[in-house]
Amino acid sequence: MTDHFQVKMTEKNYEADRPKAENPVKIMDLTLRDGHQSLFATRGRTEDMIPVAEMMDNIGFWAVEVWGGATFDTTHRFLNEDPWERLRTMKRYFKKTPLSMLLRAQNLVGYRNYPDDVAKAFVQRTAENGMDVFRTFDALNDFRNFETVVKEIKAADKHFQGCICYTLTEPRMGGEIYNLEFYLNKAKELENMGADTICIKDMAGLLSPYDAFELVKALKETVKPPIHLHSHFTSGMSPMTHLKAIEAGVDIIDTCMCPYAYRTSHAAIEPLVVTLYGTSRDTGFSVKALDEINQKLEADILPKYKHLLDDSKVSIIDTNVLLHQTPGGMLSNLVNQLREMDALDRINEVYDLLPKVRKDLGQVPLVTPTSQIVGIQTVNNVLFDDENESYKMTTQQVKDLCYGLYGKTAAPINPEVQKKVLKGYPRGEEPITCRPAEILEPELEKAKEDVKDLAVDLDDVLIYAIYPTTGKKFLKYKYGLEEPPESVKPKTLEQAKKEEDLVRKARAGQVVAKKKPEDEEGLRKFTVMVDDEPFEVSVEDKNPPVVAQVAQQTAQPSQAQQPMQQQAPVRQQPAASPAPPSQPAPKEKAAEEKPEPKPSPAAASADGTPIKAPMPGTVIRFEKKIGDAVNEGDTVVILEAMKMENSLTATTAGTLKSIHFKEGDSVAKNDVICTIG
Ligand code: CO
Repeated sequence: MTDHFQVKMTEKNYEADRPKAENPVKIMDLTLRDGHQSLFATRGRTEDMIPVAEMMDNIGFWAVEVWGGATFDTTHRFLNEDPWERLRTMKRYFKKTPLSMLLRAQNLVGYRNYPDDVAKAFVQRTAENGMDVFRTFDALNDFRNFETVVKEIKAADKHFQGCICYTLTEPRMGGEIYNLEFYLNKAKELENMGADTICIKDMAGLLSPYDAFELVKALKETVKPPIHLHSHFTSGMSPMTHLKAIEAGVDIIDTCMCPYAYRTSHAAIEPLVVTLYGTSRDTGFSVKALDEINQKLEADILPKYKHLLDDSKVSIIDTNVLLHQTPGGMLSNLVNQLREMDALDRINEVYDLLPKVRKDLGQVPLVTPTSQIVGIQTVNNVLFDDENESYKMTTQQVKDLCYGLYGKTAAPINPEVQKKVLKGYPRGEEPITCRPAEILEPELEKAKEDVKDLAVDLDDVLIYAIYPTTGKKFLKYKYGLEEPPESVKPKTLEQAKKEEDLVRKARAGQVVAKKKPEDEEGLRKFTVMVDDEPFEVSVEDKNPPVVAQVAQQTAQPSQAQQPMQQQAPVRQQPAASPAPPSQPAPKEKAAEEKPEPKPSPAAASADGTPIKAPMPGTVIRFEKKIGDAVNEGDTVVILEAMKMENSLTATTAGTLKSIHFKEGDSVAKNDVICTIG
């Protein structure tokens, strides 16, 4: 325990009448962003935040995080809400407490690097719409990706919080890369960039209590800006980590209101308040006032979201984090991917190979999107490599990473792997060393032109610029040009309770599987999944809400409920120009279910070398046309599987003779996609 921290129990050590601490721990509340993003798939609606906003405003939080991360995506995509309106509304209700957002640096609130013109406009508009604190991070900790946004944050006179993504290669802080020195150097970089505060962003819950103590203590001795700790609960360590960080002098801690706490979210505020009663770091908060908010949340709000909670396991801790130092969401993605390829029995090989692949790829932090990039490449290596050749099948994202499109990796990328992966890469075989956005063409003017008949202001244009497909759709709903589907409409507390009842009955085996015509008047047919068994359910209701989704998600928790931060899909193409037609989306489980793959075309012609699908997936595009000359090793077709693009290459030289699938078609494993003759 340091000199700064004192447990001085006062005589009147109770709620209402305790002395103010000399240096209270400041608290940022994450309930309305990371809390519902981690536990409830970011589905919280503005109307469900308003009832508690003013109560929360009175607590005394340092800031409340209410925006950014996945909220920009889910509001417009799944909730038919204008993300900008969410921000303005929160600003109206939080009169005293600063608002905070999570900004993915040059990725803004999307999943690829946007060009500088879009990044500037986005930060300017966000500041003008009421944002106060810009918590900024980059998946590679390459702070060159901060340059453009930070300039704008500063120009708008707003708070720039610089994050360091906390990651490990060993069970505890240390090793060759992610040791104390690494974090101190990163903090100095941020201080030099003008960071108002510095955040240790521990998205996987890896930071152990004693490492937190050592790290925070050293940071306090090394840099001036206040230190902020963001440590997810996932592994179960975070309450202990918080306490040790407080003893070491951390300035600000992130927590959630208790109904939004624990599991993959954050520790709750209430136990921390009581823990610090009467100490030199007492928060000064009223537990009674916090509890009033909790009661309101439990009674009026949470019934609408409970079904989104992953309750597939009794345990609220993910021990895989402790075993493998990898984010929980990443591992469940790997399991899903192997299952899809009928190779779940090889999971241990994947665990064993993962550290090597991560090392080959520059020891990147394991955070979205890099966690998926490393994970899926590892699976590919386990399944497709042989003793003669490794990295036989690489994803587009691995190529982009090797080219430098995400930024600079913590350690150099294995040059042999880099060379092999970049063979025939369209942007060039020589990796870039500049700031990635420097090679991106401006996009804002084109975006303005694209939606000039639809967008009323720059905010509208930015929704489209960041999310072209779903953004455009949203703008059509917004201006009444298209009727939004039932699934995006809010539901009432009554509806929520009715659904809960239905699911409970289904689970108890009281739901009769009965086929009804879908168009029968007044009846809506749903498939309810109970323990992986599909149940057809008919509901007599003129306006049935999203029972199908609800039921599926309740019965079949899937990656759809993992925190977006960890599982957010990664069809990331930082520099793909033009932007990919559909932004990588946190897809609903339902949307992920692929259509039945078509039967293989009756065997490929006998004379030719087939290119077969090594795994089930979707044909994204062909890089060659029929009649094109093909060299051995040339990429012929791009197959998307598990939201990653995989290049299928020619194993022989020749001419592309036949193509058996169109772009967009689903293929089964071993389907012959095309033939080289
Ligand atoms: Co987080």
